Amino acid sequence: MGYLMLLVVRVVLCVYMFMMFHFACLSSHLCHSQDSSALLHFKTHFIFNPSLFDYDYHYDYEYEYECPHVYPKMSTWENGTDCCSWMGVTCHSVSGHVIGLDLSCGALVGNIHPNSTLFHLTHLQTLNLAFNFFNHSPFSSQFSKLVSLTHLNLSNCGFQGPISSSFYNLTYLTSLNLMENQLNGSIPSSLLNLQRLTHLDLSRNKLSGRIPNVFDRITNLQTLSLSYNNFQGKLPSSLFTLTRLSQLDCSDNQIEGSLPNELLSNNIIGWSKFSGKFPQLKLLDLSSNKLEGKVPKWIHDIHSLYHLKLSHNMFTSIGHQFPCYSI
Ligand SMILES: *[C@@H]1O[C@H](CO)[C@@H](O)[C@H](O)[C@H]1NC(C)=O
Ligand SMILES: *[C@@H]1O[C@H](CO)[C@@H](O)[C@H](O)[C@H]1NC(C)=O
Repeated sequence: MGYLMLLVVRVVLCVYMFMMFHFACLSSHLCHSQDSSALLHFKTHFIFNPSLFDYDYHYDYEYEYECPHVYPKMSTWENGTDCCSWMGVTCHSVSGHVIGLDLSCGALVGNIHPNSTLFHLTHLQTLNLAFNFFNHSPFSSQFSKLVSLTHLNLSNCGFQGPISSSFYNLTYLTSLNLMENQLNGSIPSSLLNLQRLTHLDLSRNKLSGRIPNVFDRITNLQTLSLSYNNFQGKLPSSLFTLTRLSQLDCSDNQIEGSLPNELLSNNIIGWSKFSGKFPQLKLLDLSSNKLEGKVPKWIHDIHSLYHLKLSHNMFTSIGHQFPCYSI
């Protein structure tokens, strides 16, 4: 009954759109042949192997939690049928181009080569390949060809190598998740040029070096996770200008130095105005680093915090009372 209603609404809407704007809306749901053939070629590089999800060698609890249902979505991808009806594929309602691809938890085993036809799908706005086994695929700079992307999730994919500096191309990106791969090298500062970025997760990789001090370029950032890497040096001062942060997780790195103290920092540009400037911060995890000195009072003054973890550092004094948080 619901479907019938939906169909009626859609047909009425289409007739209306056609009369008003001459959109060919009923036929536009047919997949473009270039998109269809790019997807079919992409499919040939993978096998479906759900038994890999049974192994204990990985963070298996995550698979169980994140991927309760594993389904061979690509089995619905058949030549001669409309690719907009294939599982995991979303098309634009007017142009008909493939704008979304969700193959997460696909138990796909294979490689993504730099010349993969995936990178022909330049209208993609959301791409989710999380929880697959692209073992030892180099992390390709070709992702930067997908210039319409707003959401990119490549967590738990087995990518290795450095993060390409060509990511600056993805100017519409709001969410980037590269958690749990084998990425190494440092964070290219061009990555932090993505002004629309609100969510960035680079945790559980092998990234190292200093964290670039350019967070003042991505002032919309709401969640940042850099945990379980090998970052060194001090926490960059620009991090403390991110007034919209709700989660900051830098745990399990080699970050050193002391946290900025508002009393000492009045003369340092950017720090002078940060006191009480995290009105939405809910999670702050700096545990398991080499931080030292006093825990500054401004942390105590963040009233929105419900998860605070500072353990396994070399703080000399807590300095203030934290009645109900874990330290
Ligand atoms: C799909 O089928 C057509 C004709 O049946 C063929 O020409 C084309 O190469 C096929 N495409 C793929 C990607 O297999
Ligand atoms: C950036 O995007 C353009 C298309 O707008 C593309 O031609 C170019 O190859 C991309 N650059 C990189 C480094 O991928």
